[in-house]
Amino acid sequence: MSRAAVLSGVGSCLPFRAVPNDELAADLGSSEEWIRSRTGIGQRYFADRGTATSDLAAGAGEKALKCAGVSTVDVVLVATTTPDRPCPATAPVVAARLGMRGTAAYDVSAVCTGFVYGLATAAGLISARVADRVLLIGAETFSTLLNPRDRSTAVIFGDGAGAVVLRSGDPAEPGALGPFDLGSDGEGEDLITVPAGGSRQRLSGTEPASDDRYFAMSGKEVFRHAVQRMTGSARAVLVRAGWQAQQVDHLVSHQANLRITNHVADDLGIARGRCVSNIAEVGNTAAASIPLALDHAHADGTLRPGGRTLLTAFGGGLTWGSAVLTWPDLDQV
Ligand code: UT7
Repeated sequence: MSRAAVLSGVGSCLPFRAVPNDELAADLGSSEEWIRSRTGIGQRYFADRGTATSDLAAGAGEKALKCAGVSTVDVVLVATTTPDRPCPATAPVVAARLGMRGTAAYDVSAVCTGFVYGLATAAGLISARVADRVLLIGAETFSTLLNPRDRSTAVIFGDGAGAVVLRSGDPAEPGALGPFDLGSDGEGEDLITVPAGGSRQRLSGTEPASDDRYFAMSGKEVFRHAVQRMTGSARAVLVRAGWQAQQVDHLVSHQANLRITNHVADDLGIARGRCVSNIAEVGNTAAASIPLALDHAHADGTLRPGGRTLLTAFGGGLTWGSAVLTWPDLDQV
């Protein structure tokens, strides 16, 4: 009998400090009005020194486990662009923090698409009977990568974590994930990048500080790719699922920019009112963006049991991916 990964819990965690647009705008020669009208962002959260990605990940993971009514899983996955350290992965630290020493744990690296890639990875582990239950967390402290002098990125990204628990179940039951569509194009590696610090451009420790240590993005070009790739990937997954765009109750796209989300919805023929969006409150949180949006929309009642839900993401790599599920009946915790 075929097994599917079924979503059975959701949770999230934000740092304490909310940073409104005004706090960033003046030093960057920007304005509250520019940021809000060009991106839809009103504020984001920044982790204080001393708070690492694993701290936010553990907070979100704990809530998702509670929502699912379980205390352990067979595999812990962390999708992140900002691991605690270059080595080791962040997931084992998170598993240990959640009382799961001994549990398989590893990171998924696909920048803003990391959560959707992680969902596909978890679904594969479950359908191959490697695991009965997986905790997947998208977690970022993106503020640690931001160039404080680059206004085209410094106002967009924020920190946070979102998590889901997936259990084995029937492909026909609510919450069952799939089909999926995943893709990448490494020709676009320079469009979203931290150029230095890896094996290509090495940091010797004696060089003068360089902007190449920071995150950089070719905004306009990325905007175009994001719309094109999320629309194409979402269309592919809808065809595989046998769903018409008009039947989608909730479009949960990567929260890159409200204008991007609106373009994707318009191109797909999905009413903008069906787009789940929390970018005004949290900004673009990269791999954490979709699970954070899911948790917020579950908590405020936007996502209702039985709703046909389409997830689509785009990010550095370039990478993109989509998945569908029918929203399950989850506890509010
Ligand atoms: O999560 C991974 C995927 N990321 C994305 O999908 C993000 C995609 N890109 C974007 O969201 C948008 O391209 C940005 C929000 C980054 C930029 O918005 P834009 O409308 O594409 O602006 P632009 O880059 O074309 O710049 C237009 C103008 C420029 O000034 P000039 O050259 O026309 O005089 C920029 O210097 O806006 C200026 N600008 C700003 N002005 C005030 C850029 N950033 C800012 C800013 N405040 N923060």
